[in-house]
Amino acid sequence: MLISDSTVQTVTPKRKRKENNLGHYGLGTDAPWYQPQELSKSARSAFSEIARRSAEAKRRALEGCSEPKHEINVPRLHPDTLMPQLRGNGLRSLSLFSGGGGLDLGFDRAGFEHVASYEIVTDAAATLSANRPHWKVESGDRGDVTRIDWRKVKADVIHAGPPCQPFSSAGRQLGHEDERNLFPEFIRAVREIKPLAFVAENVRALLNGKFSQFVQEQIVQPLSRDYSVHVFDLNAASFGVPQVRTRVFFVGFRRGLKTEYCPPSPTYSFEYLLGDEVPPMAEVMKGIAFERCMGARQALGLPDIGFDALAPTLRSGLTGPRHTTSILSSVSALKLWNRLEIWPNGVAASREAARRFVPDNGHFRLSVPDCALLQGFPESWKFSGAVYKSIGQIGNSVAPPMAYQVALSILRALSSAA
Ligand SMILES: C[S@@+](CC[C@H](N)C(=O)[O-])C[C@H]1O[C@@H](n2cnc3c(N)ncnc32)[C@H](O)[C@@H]1O
Repeated sequence: MLISDSTVQTVTPKRKRKENNLGHYGLGTDAPWYQPQELSKSARSAFSEIARRSAEAKRRALEGCSEPKHEINVPRLHPDTLMPQLRGNGLRSLSLFSGGGGLDLGFDRAGFEHVASYEIVTDAAATLSANRPHWKVESGDRGDVTRIDWRKVKADVIHAGPPCQPFSSAGRQLGHEDERNLFPEFIRAVREIKPLAFVAENVRALLNGKFSQFVQEQIVQPLSRDYSVHVFDLNAASFGVPQVRTRVFFVGFRRGLKTEYCPPSPTYSFEYLLGDEVPPMAEVMKGIAFERCMGARQALGLPDIGFDALAPTLRSGLTGPRHTTSILSSVSALKLWNRLEIWPNGVAASREAARRFVPDNGHFRLSVPDCALLQGFPESWKFSGAVYKSIGQIGNSVAPPMAYQVALSILRALSSAA
């Protein structure tokens, strides 16, 4: 059932930020950047009815009332092979707005020494600590980058994923008027730490004409004083990740270093897997030779149905105005998921639970580890928190194999610096 926008009244960011700034940052409504919808009575009862029916069907399934239709899937994609662990390269990297660790993992695999991660949301920070107990991970108020004095912190590279909600097509695109725009805080960290290099990533929407003045005046120009700045976008499928996912990167090198920088070149082709969600032509052209990227079905280890494609972009369950266990990003994405015979709603906690709770249309139900795989996380990287919190961290992340390639490109440039 589709709930039309007219039934939804939204609240202004400013008002909500004040109400939400409660000092404890689980991923509930107290996360300061989360902006819930205020639903009309009819929309609220429609959602409640869907949730009630779904909970009932799930209860029956998990009690064994419906027969699993398939064996537990065994993935064929092994993201570890997309980012082999490299030896330490002697460069120290600092992570801001770390989320569930997409960029952190990519830099780790590329051999950078982890200085610390700063992440306001405690569940995301718990993911980092659980996977890398020896890392320094600051969370809650101590992880809030707006409160940190960076002047005594030492790092060679800063990598950061400032929140994308102000620019995301899933949000209201208020850009710099949205007080969740934390690019100024990233720039402050760069100015205070003075690293050799930095990388900031965000949604591709930031390259839309609508934001060009913002990008120039608020990001590129302030950084260009002391750094040579490169702006480019990459598609995760160019690096073997079976999903349509483009991100924009801002990479900078301290002036005077004499670096020669080349953004990462594609290592995988994917143009034959585009289904209905077609990225810009330039991306298609970039991906025409090299090893073939797997489609979503092949990557997940599902049987051949005569059709496969890159998964549509996984939406973060935390980015929109409602917390959700769906990773569905658009109506066209739903068409593609249907052709793939994969159900993008009601993601289950585990493959075992997903197999026992068959959707009404008989399609394959996704689990948290399956979503992580479609994002390029290896099986060994576990997410902390309830399902919506885990898929929120996954959908917010930079696909680690893409982060790995960006990290390598920075390493190459720094190694060549005169
Ligand atoms: C786009 S996500 C980053 C994803 C991450 N780069 C990755 O690759 O997995 C942005 C993150 O910034 C965090 N965040 C928002 N405001 C923050 C603040 N003031 N201090 C620290 N982290 C913050 C959010 O909780 C969210 O996890």
